[in-house]
Amino acid sequence: MPVLGLGTWQLTGDECTNSVIMALELGYRHIDTAEGYGNHEQVRAGIEKSGVKREELFITSKVSHSNLRRADVLAACDKALKELRTDYLDLYLVHWPNSSIPMEETLGAMSELVDAGKVRDIGVSNFTISHMEEAARVSPKPISVNQVEYHAYLNQEDLLAKCNELGVVLTAYSPLARGELLNDAVLEGIAAAHGKTVAQIALRWLVQKGVVVIPKARSRKHLSDNMNMFDFELTDEEMARIDAIETTKRLINPPWAEFDRS
Ligand SMILES: NC(=O)c1ccc[n+]([C@@H]2O[C@H](COP(=O)([O-])OP(=O)(O)OC[C@H]3O[C@@H](n4cnc5c(N)ncnc54)[C@H](OP(=O)(O)O)[C@@H]3O)[C@@H](O)[C@H]2O)c1
Repeated sequence: MPVLGLGTWQLTGDECTNSVIMALELGYRHIDTAEGYGNHEQVRAGIEKSGVKREELFITSKVSHSNLRRADVLAACDKALKELRTDYLDLYLVHWPNSSIPMEETLGAMSELVDAGKVRDIGVSNFTISHMEEAARVSPKPISVNQVEYHAYLNQEDLLAKCNELGVVLTAYSPLARGELLNDAVLEGIAAAHGKTVAQIALRWLVQKGVVVIPKARSRKHLSDNMNMFDFELTDEEMARIDAIETTKRLINPPWAEFDRS
């Protein structure tokens, strides 16, 4: 799984297709989309126009929280495959937990998709430590990934430790805090010391923790900047300074979230 992917939430129409084309031209090989983003077809158009072969790509999609019954999971996956015009997804995630549907049923259906060759790996998103423990207990197949909000303003050390313990890769969504951390004084100071941008420091901090990042970007400049964070290293002291930023800002918290389940 490439450590850097392209986020596509709120990318629609030509803007989505163009971001995918530019990202693939720049060397991105990992794309994050979802049933709920309504952009599978625009992502597919970008992939097709880029000429990059399917087998070179890592494509993640997600099934919506309202579709977690067995039959709905299977149907949502077939629809995603059709819209993306591909035979398989590299990773299929449960987008949000939904305690009104037994997790065993949902993860059982996800497992069937693996057996059918439609999905290479399964995972979850927006799962708390307690959801993770339940998933690990009831899933017939290993949970490969938990994709959660993670950035310098929402440190997720405890969840990361649980993922590491369970052998689950943590993917950070909204790794740039949707742009909110771009004027942060601590990050600016560290960026100046390395001749890098604040965005590159914010992403590098996550990657050095062993976390996968999926920033969304529309411009070639941003897409390219986000790739150029592999040629330098933050010191332990710089990592600790970012860890110590006290802001706790959860940006994504829809009514159906279950973050209060500890
Ligand atoms: N699983 C979930 O529930 C969930 C929830 C939220 C997000 N996600 C995934 O995570 C992805 C990323 O999160 P996000 O879209 O919320 O926010 P984000 O990636 O943290 O931030 C995106 C914002 O940062 C800007 N940006 C990108 N690169 C930059 C750079 N190098 N310098 C300065 N600004 C830069 C973008 O501007 P431009 O667009 O103008 O370039 C955009 O305004 C989503 O697209 C989606 O795939 C998943």
